[in-house]
Amino acid sequence: MLNLQEKNGSDPELERRFEIKLLVIACLILIAVFSGIKLGIYTLLHNAPEGFFRVEMVSKSKMSSQGTPDYILSPRISTPEKHLWQALPGVAPVPADNPLTQAKIDLGKQLFFDKNLSADRSLSCASCHELEIYAGGDGARVSTGIMGQKGDRNAPTVWNAAFQKRLFWDGRARSLEQQAVQPFLNPIEMGMSSEAEIETRVKEQPSYTALFAKAFDGNTEITIDKIAKAIASYERTLITNDSPYDEFVRGDKTALTSKQLSGMVLFEEAGCIHCHFGPNFSAASVFNSGLELRAFPANPDQIDSNYSFTLDGEDTSVWRVPSLRNVALTGPWLHNGQVDDLNEVVRIMSKAQLGKSESRQFQWAENRLGVVENPDLTEQQVEDIVAFLKALSSKRLVQASLN
Ligand code: HEC
Ligand code: HEC
Repeated sequence: MLNLQEKNGSDPELERRFEIKLLVIACLILIAVFSGIKLGIYTLLHNAPEGFFRVEMVSKSKMSSQGTPDYILSPRISTPEKHLWQALPGVAPVPADNPLTQAKIDLGKQLFFDKNLSADRSLSCASCHELEIYAGGDGARVSTGIMGQKGDRNAPTVWNAAFQKRLFWDGRARSLEQQAVQPFLNPIEMGMSSEAEIETRVKEQPSYTALFAKAFDGNTEITIDKIAKAIASYERTLITNDSPYDEFVRGDKTALTSKQLSGMVLFEEAGCIHCHFGPNFSAASVFNSGLELRAFPANPDQIDSNYSFTLDGEDTSVWRVPSLRNVALTGPWLHNGQVDDLNEVVRIMSKAQLGKSESRQFQWAENRLGVVENPDLTEQQVEDIVAFLKALSSKRLVQASLN
């Protein structure tokens, strides 16, 4: 046995050493491969474009004063898969119980401009919603109602309101029909004492009889319900989709300047589209199922307390996300009209709603130091976003505001 092995020249001791060497080399190769894979994953994670990995949605429920649950979103929320830019359609949705007819639109227009429908016959809807000069608002911080009374809210534009499923700054009205009755009865707006009084003021003008008959199948009865339906019908025709943005999205690649295009990119990248998305740039519009009401200011300590954005005794209030169409024409801005510089509104949004700031947050855990940075927009970026917001202005209204 021993002789045979010697004859073949094989030494078991040598063979064993050779096997060990092979094993060591195999181990080294395996370690190298795993390190390579680890390095690859590390590089991928660090070089992935922002938003590549979804940040989890953090929401907490808050009861509003009316007892209905509203949702407050943390400012750092998930990015929609891919933002789609859309133009505004030329026709607004119409509720089944109020079909749109030309006769109803004509009647609604007359009612919208009728000053007899305020207590002292001094104001019409159009007094605070000047369609041409102030692009559907009144150009004031807060509105002035009958007998010079000042309210505490800025007048939003009525242009494109037909696309919003929540109306008023706090979103309390759910349709134009529901909304239309409220200013008549508001003591500091048109100050009418009752719905019956509004009906009487309409009835006392004989010219309305024929208009109601035409609008409502020959029926001449005048009711608050019909008044609201007619006004809402007229408002559904107040649409602007002639902005440079709409032209761009419809295919005219020269419609936006490069500054506006930079602003458009930033509008998406910075996260404005979390809340101002869809053809009407609002999560509260009929196109999207977004969260209609948002906390504002979501980060109150980062903005100037002199603006007094919050209601008494609260750090944060919940507001409807407004549309940004024609926003450059409808200053002063925000629910209390406290800000009269659009650049400042963008700075406020970036701090208050997106939590951007120069401060860093450090996280120390398991002997590792993490840093969270969400740097503020630069002045250049603020200007670009404002340039983009200006691209949402109707060309016709820009022209009208110049006259
Ligand atoms: C005294 C000024 C004034 C008058 C008159 C007035 N409004 Fe307003 N309007 C406002 C103010 C201020 C708001 C915001 C109130 C709020 O959010 O609480 C508003 C809100 C609205 C909105 C909601 C827009 C949106 O995007 O949420 C519509 C629509 C509207 N008014 C239509 C009308 C109609 C129709 C009339 C006549 C029946 C009318 N307004 C009369 C000042 C006025
Ligand atoms: C978390 C939701 C949210 C985000 C993100 C957000 N906004 Fe807003 N935005 C709101 C709400 C809510 C209001 C209404 C605030 C109020 O009641 O005054 C508003 C108001 C505005 C207004 C004033 C509208 C008016 O008619 O007065 C502008 C302009 C605006 N946002 C632009 C932006 C821009 C630009 C960004 C990105 C830098 C942005 N928003 C990010 C929720 C948001």
